[in-house]
Amino acid sequence: MSSMVLVGYATRYGSTQEVAEAVATTLRGCGLEVDVEPVRKVRALEGYGGVVLGAPLFMFRWHKDALQFLSRFRKALAERPVAIFALGPVHDPHDEQEWQDSRRQLDKELAKLPWLKPATLAMFGGKYDPAKMGSLLRLFAGKAPASDIRDWEAIRAWTEGLKPIVGV
Ligand SMILES: Cc1cc2nc3c(=O)[nH]c(=O)nc-3n(C[C@H](O)[C@H](O)[C@H](O)COP(=O)(O)O)c2cc1C
Repeated sequence: MSSMVLVGYATRYGSTQEVAEAVATTLRGCGLEVDVEPVRKVRALEGYGGVVLGAPLFMFRWHKDALQFLSRFRKALAERPVAIFALGPVHDPHDEQEWQDSRRQLDKELAKLPWLKPATLAMFGGKYDPAKMGSLLRLFAGKAPASDIRDWEAIRAWTEGLKPIVGV
């Protein structure tokens, strides 16, 4: 099998794409060959030995592009190591409750895919920018201020541990 790694991502507002690009940069720094692509655009997995899939949670669900990718490539993914990360919590990085809620939402989504055995799974803080949202969503979201709690150090540390997992 190829030693090329795919970092596939789903995103609505761009913050997960930036994390995926940082993951790809770190993996390249570890000596791996990496493609980074929105999962919507992925046509085949034949060229890849391992896959990293990243997507945000929205409205208690995982991004639909990630779920569609998993369903489209079920067979190929079951034969490859898959590392997963999700973005979810956006308020206080120390708010245990918010992190637990996001983790529960992700676990619930993944429980619907019993064939999927992620080699590793990470939840990262995300970015919240009401200025980018439509007025209806802003109304729903209330008055929470803009925030960005992506922890680039934690993302880099997690990614550095991926080489023996996805770099086959
Ligand atoms: C309208 C809206 C709904 C969200 N719903 C959830 C949610 O249900 N659970 C969660 O953990 N995070 C939720 N988030 C946080 C997002 O996962 C976070 O903002 C993420 O960084 C967005 O990724 P993107 O910029 O790649 O689209 C929500 C964010 C927005 C704007």
